[in-house]
Amino acid sequence: WARRIALVPTMGALHEGHLTLVRAARKLADHVAVSIFVNPAQFGPNEDFDAYPRQMEADSALLREEGVALLWAPTVGEVYPDGYATSVRVQGVSDGLCGAARPGHFDGVATVVAKLFNQVEPDFALFGEKDWQQLAVIRRMARDLDLKLDIRGVPTVRESDGLALSSRNAYLSVEKRAQAACLPAAMRSAIAAVQGGATMAKALGDLNQALLNGGFASVDYAEIRDADNLQLVETLARSARLFVAARIGKTRLIDNMPVN
Ligand code: PAJ
Repeated sequence: WARRIALVPTMGALHEGHLTLVRAARKLADHVAVSIFVNPAQFGPNEDFDAYPRQMEADSALLREEGVALLWAPTVGEVYPDGYATSVRVQGVSDGLCGAARPGHFDGVATVVAKLFNQVEPDFALFGEKDWQQLAVIRRMARDLDLKLDIRGVPTVRESDGLALSSRNAYLSVEKRAQAACLPAAMRSAIAAVQGGATMAKALGDLNQALLNGGFASVDYAEIRDADNLQLVETLARSARLFVAARIGKTRLIDNMPVN
C-alpha cells in the first residue's frame, strides 16, 4: 500500500500557527513533509524579502519534535535555476484584497506552490485560513489544473489577546504589539454591528477609524466579500467574510473572520 503524505508549505520562522498545521497533517496522513522556502517570487521590490526572519536550525529542531518525516528546504537556485521562465497565474481570486496591494504576489505564491507539489508529490496539502485569499487561490489552481491532491484549510491560531499569529509579528515593538490587538477587536465589533443591523459602509468606516485611533498608521483594505469567490457582497449573505489589511509601524498585518 502506498503510504499517504501530507505537505505543509511554509517560509519558516515557525510558530504555533505553523505547528497547528503540522499536527493536523499528522492526523490526516502517514508521513508529514514540511517545506521551508522564503520565495523571492512572492515579494514585491519594496517588501521584506531580505529582512524576512530565517532560523533554519531552530525550525528544524521544532519539526523533529513534531515527528515530521521530511524537511524540504531547497535553495533559490534550485527552485528558480538560470533560464527559469514559467509563472502560474490564477485570475479572479488573485486580483482584489492583497492582490491589489501586492501586484504579482499571488502569481509568485501559485507558482512556488505548484512546484512544491510536483517536487514532494503529496496526497494532502494544508494551508492556514489566516491567509484566506491564498487558500482560495490554491484551491482554484488545484481545480483548474486537475492537481491530484486534497487541499485542506486550518482555522487561524490566535494569541490570547486575539491577534493572529504571524512571523511578521516579530517585527513589532512591545508597544506596537500591544496596540495590534485592536485589529481583531475592531473586526469583532464591526461584525457585531453588521449583525445588529448597521450598514456595511457604517461598520467598515467605524472599523477604519478604530484602527487609526488604536495605533495603526493606515488601512490597506477593510472589505466584506464572499468567502469562496471573493467577490464583494452588497447584502449580508451566509458566506460573507470580513477581510482587513492594515499597517502598524513598518509592519503590514492581515486578518479575516466570518461575518455570520
Ligand atoms: P507562511 O507565511 O510561512 O505560512 C505557512 C502556512 O502557515 C500558511 O498556510 C499560513 O496560512 C499558515 N499560517 C500562518 N499563520 C497562521 C495562523 N496564525 N494560524 C493558522 N495558520 C497560519 O503562507 C506562506 O508561508 C507562503 O505564502 C507559502 C504558502 C509557503 C508559499 O510560499
